[in-house]
Amino acid sequence: MAKLSIRDLDLKDKTLFIRVDFNVPLSADGKEISSDKRIRASLPTIQYALEHCAGVILASHLGRPKGKPRPEMSLRPVAARLSELLGRPVTMAPDCIGAETGKLRPAPGSVLLLENLRFHKEEEENDPEFSKQLASLADVYVNDAFGSAHRAHASTVGMVSYMPLAAAGLLMDREIEWMTKATRNPERPCVALLGGAKVSDKIEVIQNLIKVVDTLLIGGAMAYTFMRAKNEATGKSLVEEDKIELARELLASVGEKIMLPVDHVVVREIKPGAPNEVVTTIAADQIGVDIGPQTVEAYSAVIQAARTIIWNGPMGIFEMPPFDKGTVALAKAVANADAVSVVGGGDSEKAIKTAGVSDKITHVSTGGGASLEFLSGLDLPGVVALTDKSAAAT
Ligand code: 3PG
Repeated sequence: MAKLSIRDLDLKDKTLFIRVDFNVPLSADGKEISSDKRIRASLPTIQYALEHCAGVILASHLGRPKGKPRPEMSLRPVAARLSELLGRPVTMAPDCIGAETGKLRPAPGSVLLLENLRFHKEEEENDPEFSKQLASLADVYVNDAFGSAHRAHASTVGMVSYMPLAAAGLLMDREIEWMTKATRNPERPCVALLGGAKVSDKIEVIQNLIKVVDTLLIGGAMAYTFMRAKNEATGKSLVEEDKIELARELLASVGEKIMLPVDHVVVREIKPGAPNEVVTTIAADQIGVDIGPQTVEAYSAVIQAARTIIWNGPMGIFEMPPFDKGTVALAKAVANADAVSVVGGGDSEKAIKTAGVSDKITHVSTGGGASLEFLSGLDLPGVVALTDKSAAAT
């Protein structure tokens, strides 16, 4: 169902509440921002609102303060960074609700950042009274926080009932557009590349994507559970014993779509600089840490022929070079394919950066948990809550 977009709204002289996802990584003392990627991702929406003469209220959570104010989880450093990026002042509110905050209603063209929503436990409880108080701050509601759209909280769902309209921001729009294109009606051949340590983390994603894709390429430690299901040797590699049966069932029902590694980079001890070799059969004392060159070649060939590629998760112990080789090689293959490519998950994104191909990927999602839930075929509450385009027209 198409959702109302910020582009459909009349913003002139309105106070606009934008739910953003400024859940950025901070230093332990909460003073330094280590990546401003999520702040940058919502800049187009904020700039659009300012250019259309709205007064902008921004609201976000940061970390998991469990309903209590925690100075090291304040959004204050975010206000400072945002102000630099926008090239205009950003007023920091003392709280996200209450009389003091209410008085700070921003004039058209100015920006107010509310303090961490999760300093109040009512945010995560989706409390109606708290939702009403948030809604009372503004005239119009926009959600640009794709990364939080899988949470049914007051700022993503509850307050929508108290606003006349709820529209998607430009980032939210883009996320929904590309994730939908890749997973609901993809151009074929459609290939999914799934990695990571555990089958249990990705089982819903596998079960949903297998219905959509032509080929599912499996890498990372997850592959060893599948190999065990085929009675192949995995040595001391990570295997989820309680998921072997599930992997067996998947191979029996849809095995013709699933490709597994044919060779492996192995070590005898996982540590930086550990001596490693490439094998096709993993010996009893060996641990798989990456896909081998033959697997890279076979997977790259499938990726090259694809018109749609969905990628989530690394192919090996990516954070410990040289065991990032397989992941980085496939990042290059994804980038070089003449295909729509949609990537989710922090490690796949890092691999794309390491390979220097970020600008060749169609869409890199800002959502971790949210993109996994989307790929699992689940409806995201924060998206469902937005006003349908058809309803707004009537
Ligand atoms: C994220 O980082 O995935 C989102 O900001 C959601 O955060 P949460 O998992 O703490 O709800």
